[in-house]
Amino acid sequence: MAFQYQSVVPWGRSFEEYQRMFALTAEDLNLRIIGCADGPASFNAHLAKSGRQVVSCDPLYRLSAQQIQKRIDATYEDVIGQTRQNQAKFVWTNIKSPDELGQIRMTAMQMFLSDYEQGKAEDRYVVGELPHLPFEPAAFELALCSHFLFLYSDQLSLAFHQQAIESMCTVAYEARIFPLLTYNAERSQHLDRTAAGEISSSRL
Ligand SMILES: C[S@@+](CC[C@H](N)C(=O)[O-])C[C@H]1O[C@@H](n2cnc3c(N)ncnc32)[C@H](O)[C@@H]1O
Repeated sequence: MAFQYQSVVPWGRSFEEYQRMFALTAEDLNLRIIGCADGPASFNAHLAKSGRQVVSCDPLYRLSAQQIQKRIDATYEDVIGQTRQNQAKFVWTNIKSPDELGQIRMTAMQMFLSDYEQGKAEDRYVVGELPHLPFEPAAFELALCSHFLFLYSDQLSLAFHQQAIESMCTVAYEARIFPLLTYNAERSQHLDRTAAGEISSSRL
């Protein structure tokens, strides 16, 4: 059976996964970075530990750490269960099994949760949502978006994608998005038209 999600799920990846997804170099990590739809990923927390500061933006940050923990717990079995059923759609080179995937995700999300209150106080976790980001033009050098745009192409329209990417390219000089597939590992129906012209400065 294919993956089915009624809404966007709170599910967080690790710093190493961000590094690989976005081909982030040591120089990239020194840029002013905005992570859009970062949710409970540990990218921000990991960099904060090494003294760097990135800003993450997500509507999830309206919630308290306790409320986010509850939503993660409620999501876990559904996501890992559906991943087991759809195992053949993934490449299991770096991560060997759905159980290992679950462990890596939970470790990343715990790291996020331990950093959350301090990060909020330092304005590293900012409430905001695409397609309109609450930042000044060129406030950042690099905008990242992992597992939100294109992934939920059945729920988010072409216009939403176009506005969201324009907004990322307004607040930052460069935008990187991963993946360009839907959560059923199919090429997004919005990809060709967003890449075709309406957007001038993104690196899709
Ligand atoms: C599957 S999670 C991905 C989290 C993280 N980027 C990662 O890859 O680990 C999707 C995230 O999108 C966030 N989200 C939902 N609607 C959004 C919107 N309109 N703008 C920005 N983020 C949104 C959710 O709160 C959730 O944290």
